[in-house]
Amino acid sequence: MPQIVENIDLEEAKANFLELKQHYASHLTFINQNIQSCLNSENKQLKEISLQIKNSPGKQFRPLLSLIVADAFGEINEHVHHYATAVELIHNASLIHDDILDDSPLRRGLETPHKKWGTKNAVLLGDYLFSVGYRQVLKTPDDTCRDDLPRVASLMCESELLQSDSKFSHYPNEENYLKIIDGKTASLFGISAGAGCLLSGGTQEQKKLMEQCGLLLGRAFQIMDDWLDYYQAGKKDGKPRGSDISAGIFTLPIIKMIAQASKEEKESLDNIIFNGDFIGFNSPVIKSIDEKYGITQDVLSNAQKYIKDSYELFEKATPINSKHHFEQFSQSIVISDPQ
Ligand code: FPP
Ligand code: MG
Repeated sequence: MPQIVENIDLEEAKANFLELKQHYASHLTFINQNIQSCLNSENKQLKEISLQIKNSPGKQFRPLLSLIVADAFGEINEHVHHYATAVELIHNASLIHDDILDDSPLRRGLETPHKKWGTKNAVLLGDYLFSVGYRQVLKTPDDTCRDDLPRVASLMCESELLQSDSKFSHYPNEENYLKIIDGKTASLFGISAGAGCLLSGGTQEQKKLMEQCGLLLGRAFQIMDDWLDYYQAGKKDGKPRGSDISAGIFTLPIIKMIAQASKEEKESLDNIIFNGDFIGFNSPVIKSIDEKYGITQDVLSNAQKYIKDSYELFEKATPINSKHHFEQFSQSIVISDPQ
């Protein structure tokens, strides 16, 4: 793997992330207990989902972001805990539905709900997680934060629809790609940061700035997630890699490649795109075009730019001495491990 992003050392990022999780461990424990209470049901499948979330929670970037921003603006209080619980539940709900849409067999190394119990049950399980998450937001006192969550949930759906309509597009472009990833992923990062700010005592103006910081980080996160799908195509590290291109979902590496490739190169790409399974950097043709035009470096420096922009915005908008944890967090966005 290339040096992931200039100035960011992957091992250091992992160490920082562990330290960060340790620092907020008591809050994360509270949030995780809250999630378990929300999922408390006699239903056998819900019991299993709740156990899976307990044992394989993923990186929990979104609630962690709420905590870090809240910490910078005031005290982490029960409202922040409720909001952080909500965003994590909505995130998990969206993954259940996303895995149905993508027909993914694995998530966090485990069989996905629709593979295990069928699509109909998985739709209901996702809806259940969404509903109990939404109830957590209703416990928080600010109207704007309460409205942000359904607003972003509808944007996530709209963006998934746009992604679906854009499949196998002959004219994939970066603007459309950014619109999709901002809506489906970055917006939830945005409101996680915004609510952390406002619910701990920040102003509406500061909330808007923090929402922008979160959005930029979410964008960098999705670019890295997409790049890994491309770069590690054919591998399984908790989820199958290399499925985007064969499903016609053209992410940043392929968009950049199509924009620069010669007529002959485009024809070779077309053959691969329409015939391959789990393709990306593992294809010699794609690898050579990537190397010729410096595609990977370009994609990674795009992600780096968003991380840098986010950090600079945070630095300007927050009190002195509150930046360390945000900096550690923003660097962790590049970590690829599914846990
Ligand atoms: C992951 O994308 C998908 C998302 C971040 C959002 C999915 C949103 C929906 C299915 C609609 C909204 C649903 C709710 C409940 C609000 P990906 O497929 O690129 O990532 P992956 O590699 O992790 O699968
Ligand atoms: Mg998916």
